[in-house]
Amino acid sequence: MEVSIGVIGLGRIAKAIISPLLERGEYEPEQVFGIVGSPSSVSPALIDLPAGVRVVSSEDYLSKEAWSSPLKLLAIKPQQFGKIKELVSTVQVGDQIPKPLLISVLAGINLASLQEAFPKHTCVRAVPNTPSLVGSGLTGLAWGDDITFAQKTTVRKLFEPISEIFELPEQQLDSFLALTSSGPAYIALVIEAMADGAVAAGLPRNLSNELAHKTLSGSATLLRKKGLHPAELKDMVASPGGTTISALRHLEFAGLRSALIEAIVLAAQKSRQLAEEASN
Ligand SMILES: NC(=O)c1ccc[n+]([C@@H]2O[C@H](COP(=O)([O-])OP(=O)(O)OC[C@H]3O[C@@H](n4cnc5c(N)ncnc54)[C@H](OP(=O)(O)O)[C@@H]3O)[C@@H](O)[C@H]2O)c1
Repeated sequence: MEVSIGVIGLGRIAKAIISPLLERGEYEPEQVFGIVGSPSSVSPALIDLPAGVRVVSSEDYLSKEAWSSPLKLLAIKPQQFGKIKELVSTVQVGDQIPKPLLISVLAGINLASLQEAFPKHTCVRAVPNTPSLVGSGLTGLAWGDDITFAQKTTVRKLFEPISEIFELPEQQLDSFLALTSSGPAYIALVIEAMADGAVAAGLPRNLSNELAHKTLSGSATLLRKKGLHPAELKDMVASPGGTTISALRHLEFAGLRSALIEAIVLAAQKSRQLAEEASN
């Protein structure tokens, strides 16, 4: 059985990570100790979690137990990181071998900042994306110094039930995030716009939403199952002088392709900038 886990910030993403582990019996409820920001968040945090999971607010003296766990999942909002840094400096952590493990899912807080805030820990940066909430996510992992083989296994086991895992050098995490973490928003925009187009062309709203969504997921499944390059699928659909090539001509003219390319480059730059600001 795994060691106990202290969850600092038992919000949406932490619950998505912890719940399948509890369901699979990888952790007993009593091994999970969560902290939330305010006392009023304790009851909502416990909803859908099995009896035995303990949750307290950050002001509660019992929160020390989560802080002393050899395995900590940090899942607060990045803007709460300053407060956490102050708090952790007051928590006594002895010199342990191996060092306690701190896994952060905070966007824009790099390993150097984590290591500075948690000096006696081995730190890991994890970048799960929102589809992880329904078990269909992608998680990028960047390992901190001195991580042991056993600790890597522990981390992988946390994210495997909700996502496919990609181990990357830290400098690639911003680009990973720009594609996979921001990507669901781009896709949502595309689905919404395609549905709007169908409404403009005369279809009812609900039907348009459903068809746009299913066209996207069906196309993604076809690409994956047949191992097609996207250009092959485009050429399969676009017959000479037909409707699709007329529409594609307009999309190229309107700059859809370069808009998406630049959007991802911008998101990666912004992520790097936020990490620099947070480390100053
Ligand atoms: N949601 C996602 O899909 C997703 C995906 C990838 C990464 N992330 C990352 O995950 C992190 C959390 O996101 P989320 O969506 O799960 O946010 P969330 O639902 O708001 O959860 C944040 C949790 O942190 C608690 N908290 C606030 N201050 C605290 C303190 N001083 N000590 C301990 N806990 C404290 C909050 O409690 P209160 O409610 O009482 O303030 C809340 O339970 C973010 O850094 C985000 O970048 C999220």
